[in-house]
Amino acid sequence: MMKKSILITLSITLTLISGFAVSQDRGIGGVESLRGNTELETTRTADPMKKVPRDQVDIESSYVFQPPLIPHHIRHYEISLNANKCLSCHSWNKAKQMGATKISVTHFVSRNDEVLADVSPRRYFCLQCHVTQADAKPLVGNSFERVKSLQ
Ligand code: HEC
Ligand code: HEC
Repeated sequence: MMKKSILITLSITLTLISGFAVSQDRGIGGVESLRGNTELETTRTADPMKKVPRDQVDIESSYVFQPPLIPHHIRHYEISLNANKCLSCHSWNKAKQMGATKISVTHFVSRNDEVLADVSPRRYFCLQCHVTQADAKPLVGNSFERVKSLQ
């Protein structure tokens, strides 16, 4: 009786180990990605860069208070401790001269609801909220509809 149960335990363990080894061989641990499956040991060729057209119509907002999409390219625009390229056109003192939209007043409000004299730290890294417009196909289906007030 004892022997039998030891044998069963042993065979179950072996099956588990070999199953694990097989999935390890595939190198993806059974995880499937929407962007295609690539084994860990192989380097996947990068996806082609999304085209960001130079002059394009603004894609309209889908909901109130949506960060507007960026209607121009932003390659090599630095946003760091030392420089914020975006603000060289979008800050209040540059916007008029550059023909750009001023950042709105919400960008001056701190997390404690105080209105600051300059851009609030929580709005400094523009790309946390704003992204460039691109003709990118959705990875998953989506039945989102614009709110009535914007239709
Ligand atoms: C060289 C100047 C310049 C720089 C630098 C620049 N922009 Fe712009 N941006 C513009 C101009 C001009 C417009 C409006 C004209 C247009 O539609 O292209 C604009 C439009 C926008 C809009 C749309 C505003 C609206 O009312 O819908 C957003 C959002 C934006 N930019 C974000 C950014 C971000 C984020 C960066 C930095 C990564 C950046 N911009 C850097 C000039 C600039
Ligand atoms: C935490 C998210 C967030 C960050 C970070 C942020 N924005 Fe915005 N931005 C928004 C939202 C939301 C709106 C639309 C509502 C509003 O005007 O506040 C907006 C609106 C704008 C507009 C349009 C203003 C108008 O009057 O139509 C511009 C231009 C803009 N942002 C530029 C920037 C730039 C440049 C930065 C970086 C310095 C930045 N934003 C950082 C969320 C953000």
